[in-house]
Amino acid sequence: RALRLVLTDARAPLTSHLLCASACLRHRAAMSTLLINQPTYAWLRELGLREENDGVYNGTWGGRGEVVTSYCPANNEPIARVRQATTKDYEETVKKAKEAWKIWADIPAPKRGEIVRQIGDALRRKIKVLGSLVSLEMGKIYVEGVGEVQEYVDVCDYAVGLSRMIGGPVLPSERPGHALIEQWNPVGLVGIITAFNFPVAVYGWNNAIALICGNVCLWKGAPTTPLTSVAVTKIVAEVLEQNNLPGAICSMTCGGAEIGSALAKDERVDLVSFTGSTHVGKLVSLMVQERFGRQLLELGGNNAIVVFEDADLNLVVPSTVFAAVGTAGQRCTTTRRLMLHESIHDDVVERLSKAYKQIRIGDPWDSNTLYGPLHTKEAVEQYKAAIEQAKQQGGTIVCGGKVMDRPGNYVEPTIITGLAHDAPIVHKETFVPILYVLKFKTEEEAFSWNNEVKQGLSSSIFTKDMGRVFRWLGPKGSDCGIVNVNIPTSGAEIGGAFGGEKHTGGGRESGSDSWKQYMRRSTCTINYSKDLPLAQGIKFE
Ligand code: UN1
Repeated sequence: RALRLVLTDARAPLTSHLLCASACLRHRAAMSTLLINQPTYAWLRELGLREENDGVYNGTWGGRGEVVTSYCPANNEPIARVRQATTKDYEETVKKAKEAWKIWADIPAPKRGEIVRQIGDALRRKIKVLGSLVSLEMGKIYVEGVGEVQEYVDVCDYAVGLSRMIGGPVLPSERPGHALIEQWNPVGLVGIITAFNFPVAVYGWNNAIALICGNVCLWKGAPTTPLTSVAVTKIVAEVLEQNNLPGAICSMTCGGAEIGSALAKDERVDLVSFTGSTHVGKLVSLMVQERFGRQLLELGGNNAIVVFEDADLNLVVPSTVFAAVGTAGQRCTTTRRLMLHESIHDDVVERLSKAYKQIRIGDPWDSNTLYGPLHTKEAVEQYKAAIEQAKQQGGTIVCGGKVMDRPGNYVEPTIITGLAHDAPIVHKETFVPILYVLKFKTEEEAFSWNNEVKQGLSSSIFTKDMGRVFRWLGPKGSDCGIVNVNIPTSGAEIGGAFGGEKHTGGGRESGSDSWKQYMRRSTCTINYSKDLPLAQGIKFE
């Protein structure tokens, strides 16, 4: 691009030619250090990625905004670049998506399901290479990268079935010769804003379900995982194009806060599905509410595992390690609080510390690795700040606590004991692998500690007591959206509705009847008689 400028801008003085030429050389030098140009990472091209990628798709590829570089969290090397959307690109994309909806909404739901089936198959064919990209760009270990592509595949299968099942009831009318039915229609355009930590799966949950419901989608992924957004959209776009459908059915505008707020404020966006922090979620939510728009929020969690005296500790230890250390503590379902009954507290802490020492730390794409880097340098700073605050508030570091001396954003997975259940740091979601261990005496105390935080996403108890299990599931039990027994807080299946209460935002995505959030309900009363009886027996004559 710089070279073309030198060649075509005849009016520019000589100095500016020289400046452009040197900028061009610098540009090319930077290009050659991109990982995508190294033979080890040549597989990135199988996903259609290049040194510089278009960050806008609406049937055609483009993007005239800022060029951002995506870095690998394991070594902070640049992978490749993406040209983001401008607000003009966003405008054009919304218009094209709205046009595309006119076609998509007319296609019968089971036929839309067939397209989603093909998207699932296309993802299956690329599952390993896409999983590797997630690992390289987000920093999670390879199996987890593949795992989240699998979630998208699974939700596609689920949505295909759903495409023949969604519908409303025919209700008994109190009036003779009248039918009372519920009709579900698509909302229209679904804006999907996703977070860095699940750069494939969360889009997948929204996309597959929204599509079979008859909606078109406009996706803005996280600014730090743009290559994954581009790669996923290329796979989806190919399916649409092969079926002669408008690509704008699954549009994408890469960008930051500017595009995010444009989407939140836009009356033409019929549903805003936002996954991310409670802080940003609140800003988005207020913008959407301001215009009485619809929203689906998946915000922070502060998830607890509660271990009772009768628990099977052989389940507790691996469950806690998976949920607290997995994805380097960067799942919204990560276990952040471990409540241990006083009778087993010391034993579990000792077993956990031993297990933490055996965690294999390394490059996330290495098949031997269980634990990789944090996603960004800012997260490393948040980790350091949280450790300091925990110490000041009376915590003891049993394990970890330090930034690791190696390239990339590596920190030690950490266990902290001795904090009060309501210490400010314990009530805060810090998106890093720090586990706060709390000691409790009674069931009542443990259940109330579980519920006393602002967030309400996921929760687990470990017990063999059936009475306690049902108290946990009942009205005085866990107030979270995900309530587990003898399994970790993370790793939910796609078949259930996913989401949580309170500051987690109240939304439900993926399975069960979450599809209803992507549709609008009409209550329809049809008179097929020759009379006009009124409801409630009212006579108006
Ligand atoms: C998230 O962290 O945003 O239950 C989603 C889990 C995954 C999804 C997490 N299936 O941990």
